[in-house]
Amino acid sequence: MNRAGIKAAVEILADDYSPQNNKHRILQLLDREADRLNEVLTTFLSFAKPHPMQSSPADVVKRLEGMIGLTKSQAKKSHVKIMRHHPPELPLINMDEERIGQVFLNLMLNAMQAMPQGGRLDIHIQQVIKDDKPGLQLEFSDNGEGIKSEDLPNLFNPFFTTKQEGTGLGLAVCYRIIEQHGGKTGVASQPGQGATFNLWLPLGER
Ligand SMILES: Nc1ncnc2c1ncn2[C@@H]1O[C@H](COP(=O)(O)OP(=O)(O)OP(=O)(O)O)[C@@H](O)[C@H]1O
Ligand SMILES: [Mg+2]
Repeated sequence: MNRAGIKAAVEILADDYSPQNNKHRILQLLDREADRLNEVLTTFLSFAKPHPMQSSPADVVKRLEGMIGLTKSQAKKSHVKIMRHHPPELPLINMDEERIGQVFLNLMLNAMQAMPQGGRLDIHIQQVIKDDKPGLQLEFSDNGEGIKSEDLPNLFNPFFTTKQEGTGLGLAVCYRIIEQHGGKTGVASQPGQGATFNLWLPLGER
């Protein structure tokens, strides 16, 4: 049975109980856990068996806007304001749009999860030359709980998580995707004041 099948079955069973009934609560729990497992599996599969890279020149800002749109309702619910800061015109990046979108999504979700009381996520994009190569730097700065200095070296390791329901694959996936693009990943944080994740992507061959 797939996720939709489980959901349908749970709904049928839940209909037999009033919402106050303990069994109703257990069914809800089952429903949530099935969601979570589904997510774990999807992330895991995309990590273990990625589709072949498909790079073409694309607009990072457009991609970012799309992903911000996807998280809009969640951001609103958690009182997180997402702001973009960049010049009106930026060069295109040679990238796999789907994968880069996943990187943006993972970083935005982490930022929102780090700000349960609400806050700001500022995303700065600018042209930066690294090792004589032209590229774009993207910085995702939140003012959430921040990261303990002893955790910093482990963040990008697969399965490193400090969350009860985390898989610890989000940043490992980001790292791998940026590496596949010939880019760089970094992080800085003041515990209690927030975290900044930065990405650098080369413009690539054109
Ligand atoms: N913006 C952030 N602020 C504070 N801590 C962060 C932030 N982003 C990541 N972290 C820390 O890095 C850990 C690893 O992040 P990662 O995205 O890889 O996994 P996760 O978020 O715990 O789980 P998953 O992404 O699978 O839901 C997190 O558990 C958290 O401790
Ligand atoms: Mg995450």
